Amino acid sequence: MSSNAIKLLALAGSTRTDSLNKRLLQAVVDLVPDGDAEVNLIDLRDYPLPLFDGDLEVQEGIPDNAMTLKQLFLDADALLISTPEYNTSLPAVLKNAIDWISRPVPDQSWLAGISGQVVGAMSASPGSTGGMSALAHLRQMFTNLGALVVPGFTACPNAGAAFNDDGSLANEAQRALYAGYMEQVLSLASWRAAGSH
Ligand SMILES: Cc1cc2nc3c(=O)[nH]c(=O)nc-3n(C[C@H](O)[C@H](O)[C@H](O)COP(=O)(O)O)c2cc1C
Repeated sequence: MSSNAIKLLALAGSTRTDSLNKRLLQAVVDLVPDGDAEVNLIDLRDYPLPLFDGDLEVQEGIPDNAMTLKQLFLDADALLISTPEYNTSLPAVLKNAIDWISRPVPDQSWLAGISGQVVGAMSASPGSTGGMSALAHLRQMFTNLGALVVPGFTACPNAGAAFNDDGSLANEAQRALYAGYMEQVLSLASWRAAGSH
């Protein structure tokens, strides 16, 4: 792995074993040339969290899994998130994780790990819009929190039929589109990482 490799934290907003968003995430990180990124692909299922509750936070503090996720966000040069669309918006499991991660921690900057973070945002849905409404909400949320969200046409429609048996994206134009998107994510992250030293 090159020392210039960007630390990319990749996660899907679905815990489902056969998640189309997990498949999209894997297919897209597989498009990144070797050495360009050090990918840490995590599954939110491995970080179960209670529903955010301000009383619980006061009584018990931020859950360990939220602190672990926050640290993973802090350690990353860029995030790559693929969200499902639930009722035209974000799934609770993803929103809840972000809500916990966004909570202030003493001696850390406001919105540490989120504000200023480079974010690649994608969505996948079996429907014809590819979860574009949820994707817009994901982008808006991170932009409002001060993240640098990389623009692009990154919704994957008809995702139930989008993948080959080996997990790769079946459509060549779509592969090129996501490969180009990842180039932009990594180049922005590289520029940001250079500026922070
Ligand atoms: C509660 C619920 C609401 C949904 N709402 C939408 C929706 O608004 N738009 C859409 O395209 N798909 C919707 N779907 C279908 C999801 O896109 C589909 O289940 C998808 O496979 C979920 O993502 P995953 O495969 O990564 O788990 C919904 C599914 C659920 C369970």
